[in-house]
Amino acid sequence: MAEKLRPLIAGNWKMNGLTPSLMELGVMIAGAGIASADLLVCPPATLIAAASAAARASGTRVAIGGQDCHASPSGAHTGDVSAEMLKDAGASAVIVGHSERRADHGETDAVVQAKAQAVWRAGLIAIVCVGETQAERDGGKARDVVGRQLAGSLPSGASAANLVVAYEPVWAIGTGRTPTNPEIEEIHGFIRAQLVKTLKDQGARVRILYGGSVKPSNAAEILKLPDVNGALVGGASLKASDFLAIAAACS
Ligand code: 13P
Repeated sequence: MAEKLRPLIAGNWKMNGLTPSLMELGVMIAGAGIASADLLVCPPATLIAAASAAARASGTRVAIGGQDCHASPSGAHTGDVSAEMLKDAGASAVIVGHSERRADHGETDAVVQAKAQAVWRAGLIAIVCVGETQAERDGGKARDVVGRQLAGSLPSGASAANLVVAYEPVWAIGTGRTPTNPEIEEIHGFIRAQLVKTLKDQGARVRILYGGSVKPSNAAEILKLPDVNGALVGGASLKASDFLAIAAACS
């Protein structure tokens, strides 16, 4: 029987958001009190400091996170941002291994693992993303791919306090298409079994988020599936009303 964990609704703004977007964040912050979920917003790095200042000032339960980090704490890496810098700017979590990073920047499981380790070194929560492509699903390889990514991307030392896993099928991201409920249930159950195998009791308590075309109209049915402990939301997290409606779908 899947354990009932407090849901986490995380918004990944990707490369979207200028200073005026902080107004939208303000609406999210104002509406967060009614959600029966933890809320996290991951704006672009340029907005993290201002976003966390706004969240802190309001005493809200909305946490702020980063979307990626370098594996090193500092050094000659032009254009990169370290986990320590994200923490310094007010982030409490960092997404690593998003499929857009894996595809656009050739990030391997080993790179993702080093980044997750860096997130922990800075004392933050790592949200590690996994998920198969359309071709891999069509080839019946979804479980194999997710299993391999999990085994390769998670450093040792994971616990329910420092790790969140996000299952994001690549073909469902930004497409309006989602897996069927049994397909989501199958992969989330598989991820849970892998986590329990390696992390024992802690593995039963790590939150597993579903991501890929989550919106207010499908959130409730996805969020009630066993071992779905929240959502990683892209497009719909840019609009406060949609993001809060998804959060409100947690019961
Ligand atoms: P969409 O919700 O826009 O499909 O994006 C999902 C995602 O990639 C979140 O990280």
